[in-house]
Amino acid sequence: MTHTIEELLTLAPVIPVLVIDNLDDAVPLAAALVAGGLPVLEITLRTSVALAAIEAIAASVPEAMVGVGTVTSTVEMEQSINAGATFAVSPGCTSELATKAAGFELPYLPGVANPSDVMRALEHDLSVLKLFPAEAAGGTAMLKALSGPFPQVRFCPTGGIGPDNMLDYLRLDNVMTIGGSWVAPKQDIAAKNWQNITSLAAAAVRKAASAND
Ligand code: 3PG
Repeated sequence: MTHTIEELLTLAPVIPVLVIDNLDDAVPLAAALVAGGLPVLEITLRTSVALAAIEAIAASVPEAMVGVGTVTSTVEMEQSINAGATFAVSPGCTSELATKAAGFELPYLPGVANPSDVMRALEHDLSVLKLFPAEAAGGTAMLKALSGPFPQVRFCPTGGIGPDNMLDYLRLDNVMTIGGSWVAPKQDIAAKNWQNITSLAAAAVRKAASAND
């Protein structure tokens, strides 16, 4: 089933940003995050096993919505679709990638860090965007400032977000969801401590639910 990027981002308040070094970790890691209530996963193309990890998760964890992250070229985009990625995330927004994603009908979340980036995305009819790197690019003050000229844009801020500042982001009207790596710490993955990853995901879901309190 194909989802729009809007639909995908409403499925979870946090999108785990994952770096998978060992292929054997892919399926249990995805299952641990799904068990904690976070089914929308971004597998970054930062390791040699990333594409194989996407393929393994797509085949073995049907509850997960597996996407690809750190896409910086159209070749990577195509390889990721072939591996089973159902959406793609980029650190930035190039016209070439936006055009390619539209051609593939691939839900696409490009990164933006300033108004010109937002305008380029809008030229491609992309209005759900990742603010990246969120904290370094201006954080919640930047998002509030962008809501004036771009009231139609919704964001998934990513980069520098964790348990201490997640609610500041989720309480903004132009934030749909947030991305972050804190729910899947490197040391827990290395130790295969899946239970702790499920607990971190569940804690993030609980905390996000309190954003409306
Ligand atoms: C990244 O670049 O790895 C993502 O933006 C995640 O950032 P974080 O590690 O600060 O959550």
